[in-house]
Amino acid sequence: MDILNRIKSKTLPRHVAIIMDGNGRWAKQKGMLRSFGHENGTKAVKEVVEASAELGIKHLTLYAFSTENWKRPRLEVETLMKLLVSSLRKEIKSLQDNNIKLTAIGNLKALPNKVYHELHEVMNATKSNHHMTLTLALSYGSREELLNCVKEISFKVKKDIISPEKIDESIINEHLYTRNLPDVDLLIRTSGEKRVSNFLLWQIAYAELYFTNTLWPDFTKQHLYESIIEYQKRERRFGKTSEQLS
Ligand code: FPP
Repeated sequence: MDILNRIKSKTLPRHVAIIMDGNGRWAKQKGMLRSFGHENGTKAVKEVVEASAELGIKHLTLYAFSTENWKRPRLEVETLMKLLVSSLRKEIKSLQDNNIKLTAIGNLKALPNKVYHELHEVMNATKSNHHMTLTLALSYGSREELLNCVKEISFKVKKDIISPEKIDESIINEHLYTRNLPDVDLLIRTSGEKRVSNFLLWQIAYAELYFTNTLWPDFTKQHLYESIIEYQKRERRFGKTSEQLS
C-alpha cells in the first residue's frame, strides 16, 4: 500500500517541530567539508516544507540555528548565515505558490544585518498566506525565551498591568516567541541523538517525541510520512487513563 494512504488526514499533528541534526556527520562520511552537509541540509528543508504543506500540516517549526551555535567556528557560522540568505531569496516563490507564511522565533536582533533584513522581507511578503505557517528558530534558545518571558511579565506586574494572582499558562504563552503558535504535537530529531537541546521546552510538554537515525540531509518526505504514521499509532493521554479517553 502506498505509504501516503496510511496517513489519516483527521488526526494529523497540528504542529510539527524538527531538530535537524547530522549535517556535519553526513558530510564527513562523504569526505567533504561540513558546509557541504549544510548545503544538502537546505535541500531536505525544501522537500520537508513542501511535503508538510501538501499533507495539510498547519504549523512546521525548524530549529535552524541555536543560541549555542554561535560558538561554532566563525567560517561555519558564516556559511550557515549565507545559506539562510540565499535560501530565503530562492524560496520566496515556492512559499507564495504554496500559500506558506514564514515567521521566525529567537533573538533575531543577534542575526547579521543581511539575514535580519532578508528574513523580514520574506516574512512581510508572506504574512497574509494561511495554508501553513513555517517558523524558523534562529538564534533560538528555550531558556532565553523563558527568561525573556519572566522579565516581560515582571515589568507588567511592576507597572500594575498584570496582577500576580492572574498569572496562568495562557499569560505565559502570550509572552513567549511562539505566542501565535499552538503547542507542539510531534517533535522529530534526526541523526540518532536523543536530546531536546534547549528547543521549545515549554511548548513540547505533551508532544510525542520521534527519533530517527537518518542524518538530516538524507531525510526525505518518506521519512516525514513514517514519523506521522508512528505518531498516529500513539495514544495521547494528556495525563488521563485509556478508559477515560474512550
Ligand atoms: C545540525 O547539524 C544542523 C544545523 C546546526 C543547522 C541546520 C541548518 C540547515 C539544515 C541549513 C539551513 C536552514 C534553512 C532553514 C535554510 P550539525 O552541523 O550539528 O551536524 P553534526 O551533529 O553531524 O555535526
